[in-house]
Amino acid sequence: MKLTNYFYKLNIVVWGTKQLVIAAPKETSLLALLIIVQGLIPAFSLFIVQAIINWVLSPEAFFPLGLVCAWCGALVLGTVISPIISLIRINLNEKALTHCNVLLMEKANSIEGLAPFENPELYDQIQFLKNESARRPLNFVFIITGLAKDLITLSSILVVISTISLWMPAFILIACIPHAISTYWFEKQTWTDMLFRSPESRRLAWLSSLTLEERFSKEIRLFGFGNFLVTRYKNLAKSFHDAFNTERWEKSLRFVSLSLLSVLGNILIFIFAIMHAKQGTFTAGAVVIVLQALVMIQLEINGLIQDFGMLAQTMLFFEKFNHFLQTDFSYLIPKKVTIPPDPFPIHAIHFEGISFSYPDGRKVLSNVNFSIPIGKKIAVVGENGAGKSTLVKLLARFYDPTEGRILIDGIDLKEIDLKTWRQYLSVVFQDFGQYHLSAGENIGISRSSFDPEEIAEAAQKGGFDAVATKLPLGLNSMLGKEFGGTSLSGGEWQKIAMSRAFFRDANILILDEPTAALDPKSEHEVFQKFAENTENKTTFFITHRLGSVKMADWILVLKNGELIEEGTHEELLAKREGEYAYLFSLQADRYATQEMVLEPA
Ligand SMILES: Nc1ncnc2c1ncn2[C@@H]1O[C@H](COP(=O)(O)OP(=O)(O)O)[C@@H](O)[C@H]1O
Ligand SMILES: [Mg+2]
Repeated sequence: MKLTNYFYKLNIVVWGTKQLVIAAPKETSLLALLIIVQGLIPAFSLFIVQAIINWVLSPEAFFPLGLVCAWCGALVLGTVISPIISLIRINLNEKALTHCNVLLMEKANSIEGLAPFENPELYDQIQFLKNESARRPLNFVFIITGLAKDLITLSSILVVISTISLWMPAFILIACIPHAISTYWFEKQTWTDMLFRSPESRRLAWLSSLTLEERFSKEIRLFGFGNFLVTRYKNLAKSFHDAFNTERWEKSLRFVSLSLLSVLGNILIFIFAIMHAKQGTFTAGAVVIVLQALVMIQLEINGLIQDFGMLAQTMLFFEKFNHFLQTDFSYLIPKKVTIPPDPFPIHAIHFEGISFSYPDGRKVLSNVNFSIPIGKKIAVVGENGAGKSTLVKLLARFYDPTEGRILIDGIDLKEIDLKTWRQYLSVVFQDFGQYHLSAGENIGISRSSFDPEEIAEAAQKGGFDAVATKLPLGLNSMLGKEFGGTSLSGGEWQKIAMSRAFFRDANILILDEPTAALDPKSEHEVFQKFAENTENKTTFFITHRLGSVKMADWILVLKNGELIEEGTHEELLAKREGEYAYLFSLQADRYATQEMVLEPA
């Protein structure tokens, strides 16, 4: 590793430590103080022991009360300081964890576009942070305090030993080097194994989690492929284990032989010390503490190296964490601050030569042009994958178009302040969120406002009121099984999502294909409810079922990312060769029956 790299790592450690200070300044300073005291205790005890042994062997008769008291004091201090340190460390842990996760959440929130979640590299990074953020800050506190304590203990023991002979600390350290190197290699070996194997270990973790996940429990049972998963897991685990085990053994033997050099060094120091004692150059107390120090230093060095090893893993988190916080994502959705007039009486939206490719490079929209006046009901139709949802994502500016412009009253959407623009929009996404909050909160979050009466009104518009009355605590009922709440059906969640969209009270409302959760009849009802509650507002209905589209003022027909037709229902039907007329005729039988159900004459 290059020197600059070490500096970088050191920087990250310093940065991490700084985060602890920011998170909990009181706890951190108190802990630092106590750790210094704790780290000094072993050396202090050694020093006292040496003096006491020398007293025992000397003709001096006076009981060394001071020494004995000091030794007892150190013992008492050592005993009581540990639990106090643990307690403060727990406090620091909690605060550090909260602090780090708040930083992470705030940073994630500040990303306006969606591209980071779709760029595989960044996605991996985000997933890594998501999975590790619950424990790494905790590990960091443990490791950093452990390291500090070990370093203090080690150096203070060496200082005590240097009072016997200035060379002694050097001898001991030199003797420790081979074992230290071997321990370092050994530890490093296992860490790099773990790091390198991480894609495979992620795959293993994924396999083993499948059987525990509710989402897959039905298929696993019905198709009976539980055993298939177990066998796959076992085979994969065995192949990883086999691949690494042989190598590990070979390396371990090499490490052990290196460590034997240190043993040899220790034996030499041992002989050196007793010979000096025999000649009278060392006191007996000195010999005893040198021997004790040999063992202690070996242990401290082992501890240090293991701590460094764990630090390396934790630093991987902090490196990515720091990198994520430092990354400027604003280039994805460049901020322009032409704040539109407030109120912004939008008159027209214009898609001008819009082409778009997702970050993976697939072109999904090409040269789409259309204009719509505000206050109209627009339907966007087209088969699955035609690019309808992408159109919505561009309008919400989760991405900027690859080519072309979206004009809002002639102003390029890119120029308009994003927060202001998004306030005009309310969207029921195709994959809207189901939050494990109360039903009311699930609705209120669209405006971060939780007035019960307003929420109840929105629930009524979205059709959720009827569902709420059946819930144990009405709109206050918690939703989602995960934390003991009530489960809702897909259709009921859809009503929550609708209520949430209405609660937003935006000027432009978009309903993106509620079809996943709904049958055609319910979908039609949803569209109707949507239409009723959005009078005079601009609405986009997005669907691949044409039955509900008739009520739209204007219909856009997308196919393979191109806008192939637009017009009113009648105009489009009149085009005999047209896609809309064709799709409509395909689906017409179904609508015939549907209309009988929906609109009894
Ligand atoms: N995040 C994405 N990354 C890459 N490709 C995507 C992404 N989202 C959608 N696509 C692709 O873009 C095309 C259009 O998708 P979409 O706009 O969701 O279609 P529709 O809503 O009409 O069903 C599809 O081929 C889809 O696979
Ligand atoms: Mg879609």
